Amino acid sequence: MIMKKVIIFDTTLRDGEQSPGCSMNLQEKLDVARQLQKLGVSVIEAGFAASSKGDTEAIEAIAKQVKGVTVCSLARCLKSDIDAAAEALAFAEKPRIHVFIATSEIHMKSKLKMTKEQVLSAVAESVSYAKTKCSDVQFSAEDATRSDKDFLCAVLSAAIKAGATTVNIPDTVGYTTPAEMAELISYVKEHTKGIENAVIAAHCHNDLGLAVANSLSAVSAGASQIECTVNGIGERAGNAALEEIVMGIKVRGDAIGAYTDIDTTQIYRSSRLVYGIIGYHAPKNKPIVGDNAFSHEAGIHQHGVMNDRRTYEIMKPEDVGINRDNFALGKHSGRHAFEKRLNELGYNPDKKQLDTYFERFKELADRKKDITDKDLEAIASEHMRDIQQYSLDRFAVQAGNRSTPTCVIRLIKDKEKFEDVSIGDGPVDAAYKAIDKIINPPPHELYDYGIHSISGGKDALGEVTVKLKTQNGNVTGRGLSTDIIEASILAYINAINRLLDRTDK
Ligand code: KIV
Ligand code: ZN
Repeated sequence: MIMKKVIIFDTTLRDGEQSPGCSMNLQEKLDVARQLQKLGVSVIEAGFAASSKGDTEAIEAIAKQVKGVTVCSLARCLKSDIDAAAEALAFAEKPRIHVFIATSEIHMKSKLKMTKEQVLSAVAESVSYAKTKCSDVQFSAEDATRSDKDFLCAVLSAAIKAGATTVNIPDTVGYTTPAEMAELISYVKEHTKGIENAVIAAHCHNDLGLAVANSLSAVSAGASQIECTVNGIGERAGNAALEEIVMGIKVRGDAIGAYTDIDTTQIYRSSRLVYGIIGYHAPKNKPIVGDNAFSHEAGIHQHGVMNDRRTYEIMKPEDVGINRDNFALGKHSGRHAFEKRLNELGYNPDKKQLDTYFERFKELADRKKDITDKDLEAIASEHMRDIQQYSLDRFAVQAGNRSTPTCVIRLIKDKEKFEDVSIGDGPVDAAYKAIDKIINPPPHELYDYGIHSISGGKDALGEVTVKLKTQNGNVTGRGLSTDIIEASILAYINAINRLLDRTDK
């Protein structure tokens, strides 16, 4: 079988980031882009320049700082969108403009209010215009899988004639099935003029849980670019998950006839980074990156794996960068051992970051006997602490089932101390009310609060995630401590600091 290379086009920072609860700040987007580069993706879709100032800044920064990979911006079939994309990509080593328009009857009639002829000429004009700004132009026919096949092929032919070198077939609403996807790709290959000169891409959403299956089916039928996101984040039920696509192709390349250039040992790290930033955790049974993805509970399975792990394992945890030996550090471990272990786990902090991480490690080691790899990862991925106008000095709570929960809290800003007290429905509520009294933050609604134990045991490190809805979008805060009240307070202060940082700009 001839093995073809599949181009991995990552849209975590565009289709993923635009979905509710997944927003990232500039620094976080840069961190993700750098990690995607390590992972070895070919294209990073860094945003949709015309959609917001934040997207433009992120595309510009990624274009300037992340080299060796194609950096792409989305654009509607509008001159102003294409100009915005081209400007944001001005410093990219390998820029790509990604022009799209919907081609299904329902989208053209009810959303665009355009006829087929108008859509066809918009495609020809926009792709030609984008081509004057950038030699690498991708065209996507939004809702392709619900479009009339012949019209779709006419649109793709027009896009290729106007200069598109990649044509993308999105299953925008996650409606298609693997067999239909394969049939559609074959149809496009047969009925699109000039298709032999273009890369065929697939972009699948997961509304029916078929995004990965549809993407792999597209590859078997002739697609050679797959669009996906880390952890499958994205609109509604998400996009095709990068880690599943890549490992699907790695493990079953024999059946699919394909390979990728991805360094799969960076998969776990990429997953943790993205989850850490958006403040979620992988469901335990999530393929490839979930806690249980490589664990065996059933006696028969354990017995089989002990004899030969291939009995129940089709891939090794090491293949995706999961370290099996749960090496523990403790309070007597020195900075050198700490740094060495971080490096072994794939983290290479600079000196300033290392100082911060080591200080956190020492604080934690005073409270917890064994510091596991998971604890170290939590410390290293605690990015959001960077933005700190206010920090916690001390707090005291009083709570009980027959007393009114009360919290006294003291915060520090620019070396000045601010103290206040509040009662609440519980100690966390009391603490949050006391913090609000001190900071008087911009209006917001706390819409999500989650607590997660990083490792096992009664002295486990607790991680609290707090999500705030604001007029300027949502912010996420995280706090880590062996004391869950303290973790809750740190998470809220972190979220408020991020909110203040956003409001100040
Ligand atoms: O889902 C979709 O159709 C998209 C396009 C803009 C490519 O995200
Ligand atoms: Zn999409």
